[in-house]
Amino acid sequence: YRTLRIALLGGGTVGAQVARLLLENGDELSSRIGARVELAGIAVRDLDKKRDAALPRELFTTDAEQLILGADIVVELMGGIEPARELIIKALNSGADVVTGNKQLLATHGTELFDLAGQVGAQLYYEAAVGGAIPIIRPLRDSLAGDSVTRILGIVNGTTNFVLDRMDTGGDELGDALAVATELGYAEADPTADIGGYDAAAKAALLAGLAFHTNVPLDAVYREGIEDVTKEQVDLARSMGYVVKLLAICERIADPATGEAAVSARVYPALVPHRHPLAAVHGVNNAVFVQAEAAGDLMFYGAGAGGIQTASAVLGDVVSAARRHVAGGPGVAESTHADLPVLPVSAAVTRY
Ligand code: NAP
Ligand code: HSE
Repeated sequence: YRTLRIALLGGGTVGAQVARLLLENGDELSSRIGARVELAGIAVRDLDKKRDAALPRELFTTDAEQLILGADIVVELMGGIEPARELIIKALNSGADVVTGNKQLLATHGTELFDLAGQVGAQLYYEAAVGGAIPIIRPLRDSLAGDSVTRILGIVNGTTNFVLDRMDTGGDELGDALAVATELGYAEADPTADIGGYDAAAKAALLAGLAFHTNVPLDAVYREGIEDVTKEQVDLARSMGYVVKLLAICERIADPATGEAAVSARVYPALVPHRHPLAAVHGVNNAVFVQAEAAGDLMFYGAGAGGIQTASAVLGDVVSAARRHVAGGPGVAESTHADLPVLPVSAAVTRY
């Protein structure tokens, strides 16, 4: 067996689980890949922090740049824009494939990173960036590549769904429920990203870009968060037969100004009737409905956040990257044709 070196950038909620699964299941994964996968190290900020005892201390380093050198696959699970962006650029330039769960980075700097990956013949995988454990990136990019997607409607943020669900079924106030979601590792480092709808907007931009084969800038996604949703409103909605959900909606629609086909993406709290399947999405789960011209209606459902659940998606990408190395093939190129205009926020006013 040849050995493939994996550099892990980040050993927090998701990174620690990825490291643990790589160490525990390394032999099994190696036999699936046809090469030995070796965890070269884990870059963190604080070497003194208490860590999972299953992870050998000597794997941890604060020198992410050094760790990248000689890695075949770099897994970025630090979050945020910098230094994640710079490290991914270094990794791609060094010939490594990159796996990331960083939707914030991809929604703001994706074009730069995918272009670079294309130029250097590397791959950038990001199944974990949307919907936690749910396979949604590959289905949109690969399985539906021959179809014409018309609409995506879904719950794409686990923290807000957990919070709204506790407000609806457990009687919690928003702040108390958010504290539990944070404790469970569902929330972003700054939970404003979840509560304010920024995380869902980044995911909507990624999904719309893939579904409609165009580049969707984050600032073209209409966004409202749940920060002003009160328990009284949730109770009133329930008494009227509705549940409050933070929805992401991405559509191919006619531009109201020109009548030409265009893309609209928006995120906001909505009243969902109890009979609708999205009303039954509880806790940290996410659900994404995809409508395509030939395929009809498809539904993707599962854990939208959580360390071990998200590690599943990350490891799937690691296996794909490792198999690509073994085969020496070109892999799947990311395509953003920018063939459809994206409506600015002011035009994205349709409500459901
Ligand atoms: P986290 O628990 O905050 O972990 C971040 C890790 O990165 C920590 O180990 C931290 O080191 C390390 N780190 C941060 N900045 C660093 C720097 N400048 N240099 C070196 N190490 C640094 O975050 P997470 O929840 O695992 O999320 C990681 C990424 O996955 C984010 O992009 C997030 O959006 C995405 N994601 C998360 C989930 C989820 O359920 N949590 C699901 C899907 C996607 P220390 O340990 O020393 O602080
Ligand atoms: N904070 C994010 C969420 C993590 O709650 O959905 C998964 O992307």
